Parts: sequence; C-alpha cells; structure tokens
Amino acid sequence: MSALLEVKNLKTEFNTDSGLVKAVDDVSYYIDENEIIGLVGESGCGKSVTQLSVMRIVARPGKITGGEVFFEGEDLLKFEANGPKMRGIRGGKIAMIFQEPMTSLNPVMTIGNQVAESMILHLNMDNASARERAIELMGQVGISDAKNRIDDYPHQFSGGMRQRVMIAMGLACNPRILIADEPTTALDVTTQAQLLELMKDMVDHFKASLIIVTHNLGVVARYAQRIYVMYAGRIIEGGTCKEIFKDPKHPYTIGLLKAVPRLDEPRGKKLVPIEGLPPNLINMPDVCSFLPRCAMVTDKCRELPRPETRDLGNGHIVSCHRDI
Ligand SMILES: Nc1ncnc2c1ncn2[C@@H]1O[C@H](COP(=O)(O)OP(=O)(O)OP(=O)(O)O)[C@@H](O)[C@H]1O
Ligand SMILES: [Mg+2]
Repeated sequence: MSALLEVKNLKTEFNTDSGLVKAVDDVSYYIDENEIIGLVGESGCGKSVTQLSVMRIVARPGKITGGEVFFEGEDLLKFEANGPKMRGIRGGKIAMIFQEPMTSLNPVMTIGNQVAESMILHLNMDNASARERAIELMGQVGISDAKNRIDDYPHQFSGGMRQRVMIAMGLACNPRILIADEPTTALDVTTQAQLLELMKDMVDHFKASLIIVTHNLGVVARYAQRIYVMYAGRIIEGGTCKEIFKDPKHPYTIGLLKAVPRLDEPRGKKLVPIEGLPPNLINMPDVCSFLPRCAMVTDKCRELPRPETRDLGNGHIVSCHRDI
C-alpha cells in the first residue's frame, strides 16, 4: 500500500547575497493514513521550509530545486504553485497550522468569517451554512459560547484560544493531512498539552493524519507513532518512536535524547546539552554536517563525503558513517 504523502529527495534553496542556503537538502519521508508523525530538530534545521515546500508556499528567494511530493498518486511539484490544483489541495486536502497564530490570523476579519472562508472556497458552501459549520467547529475545538464569539476579532481571544481557532480552520475542510508547525511554543505548558490532546482527538475524529513539527522530543514521544530527526537541512534518522527512543543510532539523536528530561529517571539528574551550534547552512562542505559537534567522530567521517541514508530494517533509517 502506498503512503498518503511521500516526499522524495526534496531540495529547497535560498539564493542569498551571502551565498546559497540549502535549507532542505535531499529530504525524504512519508506519512500513512491515520498516522501521527513528528519532525524534530533544532531551530533553523529546515523543518518549516520542508513543510512550506510541500504546500508550495516557500517565500522568495526560496526555490524548490529537486524532488517529488506524491499525494493521492500525483507529484505536487508538477503543478503550478498558484494554479487551481494546488489551490484546491492547500487548505483543502492538506492544511497547515502555523507557528505564529497572530500573524496567520487576519486582525481585521472576524474569527467566524476566517473559519468560514475556506469552506466557502473549497467546499462551495453558501455563507449561512459555512457560518453554521464554523460555530459547530468552534464548539468542537473547545471555544465555549461559540455562537456569540464568532463575530469577535482575533485580538479578543487569548493565545490558546487563537490556537484553537487555527485548529478549527485547519480542519474546516476535512483535510487528509494536518501539519502543525510548532503550534505551541509561545504558550504555557498546560495550554500546550491541552492543544496537543485536542489536535490528537480532532485528527482521530476527522480521520486525518497529523505531522507535528517541533523542538520537543517529549511531545513526539507522547503523540507520534514515528519520528524523523532533522539536522542542517537533512533527515539524519527516522523510525518508530519505540525504536528511536530505545535504540537511537545517530550521535545527534543520542545527544538530543540526553538533553530531554525523562520521567523514569531520578529527579535532579543532570541533562547534557549537545555542545556547539548547528552549522550555518550557507555553502556547506560535502562532509557530514554534524561532524564538528559529534562526540563519536572518526577519521572516516573526515575523509568521506556526507553519509547516505541507510536502511537498518524495521523502517529505521540513519545517515551516519559509524559502524552500526
Ligand atoms: N527567506 C529566507 N531567506 C534565506 N534563508 C532562509 C529564508 N527562510 C528560511 N531560511 C533559512 O532556511 C533554514 C531553515 O529554516 P526553517 O525556518 O525551515 O527552520 P526551522 O527548522 O523551522 O526552525 P525553527 O525551529 O526555528 O522554526 C534556516 O537556516 C533559515 O535561515
Ligand atoms: Mg520553523
């Protein structure tokens, strides 16, 4: 059975004054129906640009320079970014909840009209039924008194409530895939947890798949079935959460896991951050990008070009020169 979405060897670059930024450099992953996956990595590693590329909304000077994005049997990269096919898919079949809800909501348009807008566009609904459905959806995402709040503006909602509105908007057209890009970082931990629970329940209810894009391995462990770890524009390890958390193979993943507080370890146990900083993605040399920070580096790593992705079986993939 083929995957619901399969991204193959995706490349997205920014040609800037300071040089070529390979933000997404040969990235491959897939998601199945009714699946939740996590995409994890430090700031700047290319998580958002990967998702924006799939949606075909990478901002200039960003350019997709290679790869394929298969969805429902078609390669989305073959379509015009703003043509009818992509406009139908974007927001209709694949919806994205953005990092910063205040910038993605229109401040001068009522919440109700914003939730209704995509249903009018994608589902050909008339204004009255879209409004009815918007009220229903807002109730479903936990906005109490939705009937009276529907004509409010975004600034009248709290940060957590705005996120709930975003979730309602994302699911309004019953998409196959919801992409939640770091939906919770600016919020307190309790609100964060509630929103993740809500998203999980909602994708269950709508029979959609969910891609959680986050820095937080704890979130991934709790909600995702599979995980992809990104570093410097590439996926360096992937597999089921069970496998990756039990037996991580890439030194970066091993380092990330040491930096996460664990419930099953004594309190006060020191977390070990990974030393150093992620590389600048401009004009990267053809060696393993984790090399300067790697605690397990060998001569082989310094001599060889960057490692290819290896399949270790059971869906566990890794990109590292070590003997594993
Ligand atoms: N408009 C742009 N021009 C030049 N470079 C860009 C542009 N947008 C993104 N980049 C670069 O692409 C790389 C990937 O950025 P991206 O936003 O995907 O990171 P991220 O993993 O989502 O980080 P965060 O966790 O902070 O959201 C970064 O190095 C960034 O500097
Ligand atoms: Mg991002």
